[in-house]
Amino acid sequence: MTDVNLRQFKPEKLFAPRGFTKPEIKAPQYLEIGAGRGKHALMFAQENPDKNLIAIERTRNKFNDFADKAEQLSLRNLLAVHADAIPWVVHALPPKSLAGVFLLYPNPEPKNPSQRWFNMPFFEFLLSRMQDGAKLTLATNIQTYIEEAEQQSKELWQLSPAVFEVDKGSQRTHFEVKYLARGETCWQMELVKPDGYQTRFDEWGVD
Ligand SMILES: C[S@@+](CC[C@H](N)C(=O)[O-])C[C@H]1O[C@@H](n2cnc3c(N)ncnc32)[C@H](O)[C@@H]1O
Repeated sequence: MTDVNLRQFKPEKLFAPRGFTKPEIKAPQYLEIGAGRGKHALMFAQENPDKNLIAIERTRNKFNDFADKAEQLSLRNLLAVHADAIPWVVHALPPKSLAGVFLLYPNPEPKNPSQRWFNMPFFEFLLSRMQDGAKLTLATNIQTYIEEAEQQSKELWQLSPAVFEVDKGSQRTHFEVKYLARGETCWQMELVKPDGYQTRFDEWGVD
């Protein structure tokens, strides 16, 4: 990844979130950003005891709901984090530490295209935290969001995304359940970080 026509992300400018503690990274490590009330995170952790998930949510009331359920289930492979994912990822994760990333029904940011994940300079940093061969999964009910993410993945990030419709019976998240119950189409995009893919942050945060 070399030809990025975008303001460069400046991780050194970001303070650690309040009360930050560095997590233990346990391979294989997965990350979910914007976990909401945690439906997907809890299900993923229960169904994949051999995989470890860090799930981040920044909205307090959603996170509290998620954290309560996580505590009841006491899943040893799930870490629920209340934070803005951007500074948290910068301070918590070493390069090439993630086996997979989930961005499920992110805020569409209709008035702020620069706040959509695939348009953000931070996206290059997130790619640097993924291992070669790691998969990123995006889901949305907004056709223009998936189209833009697909185009940015190809043109800006030089990746090869696959886009398809989410199965009508899928129930991974609260938003997915709501959209599909309304008869809306939901889309999924998957992209795999190719072997040898380089970013400008590959050495950033190496201990
Ligand atoms: C539309 S909701 C979807 C929640 C859940 N994934 C679902 O599908 O039910 C998007 C969530 O992402 C969270 N979010 C957005 N930006 C975030 C960030 N930078 N860090 C952590 N959470 C974020 C919001 O607080 C919100 O709860």
